[in-house]
Amino acid sequence: MKCSVIFCPTHIEELYFTGKTIVAIDVLRASNTIITALNNGAKEIVPVGSVEFAVKISGGMFGGYTLIGGERNTKKIDGFALGNSPLEYSEEVVAGKSIILYTTNGSKAIVKAKFAENLFVCSFANLTAIAKHLIKLNKDFEILCAGRNNSFSLEDAICAGALISKIQALKDKPELNDTAKASVVLKKSFGKSILTMLKSTEHGKVLLENQFEEDIKHCSHVDNVNVIPYFSENVLKLMPDQKSSSQQKKK
Ligand code: MLT
Repeated sequence: MKCSVIFCPTHIEELYFTGKTIVAIDVLRASNTIITALNNGAKEIVPVGSVEFAVKISGGMFGGYTLIGGERNTKKIDGFALGNSPLEYSEEVVAGKSIILYTTNGSKAIVKAKFAENLFVCSFANLTAIAKHLIKLNKDFEILCAGRNNSFSLEDAICAGALISKIQALKDKPELNDTAKASVVLKKSFGKSILTMLKSTEHGKVLLENQFEEDIKHCSHVDNVNVIPYFSENVLKLMPDQKSSSQQKKK
């Protein structure tokens, strides 16, 4: 099982992803928004690459069952029902709903990788679930960091390193290329307190300036959910054998 990390998707063509197994990471905050929404019973997330497209497809979806969410410069977009704070995506708000999601980096990275054979969304919250699933798949995989403003972001690279370390700890030995080795080293150097690390990053500082400290805390939780967002036919859903926490409560 070979593993590599793409630190930023900007210079990569969509077709590059064809037939690959890709794990998309945008720790602050799109990955956590997606994981939280699906864990709270959202029917599906439709990631989109532009605000215009989000508005366009929302017109063709049934009123009341579809919400548009996302951000520009961390803030909710005018006319959207939700921003990009994972805390907004509670069970009361999202259960049973389709959510169209636009974010500056995360949703765009996912859309770019749409030709992948397998495409998952990961953050610190679901590291073990993703690691175990990759081991079961036993295929070469690439971790696609969303990055920030067409560049590297430390929190995504550290999360990539944490995922690789988790796979190694579960007794699988992925073959690491240079980017994967660098991510593991970053995780060892900066990943001891995820919360402290997140607050110190460039994106973390912007979120703090905009009063999103609670979101950073939420995004710092490690392995608190067992959900695997999986992209198929233009939407993200839980893997077919998974249940959201809201579905589990109803049993
Ligand atoms: C993104 O996709 O760029 C982020 O999720 C931005 C944010 O923190 O809202």
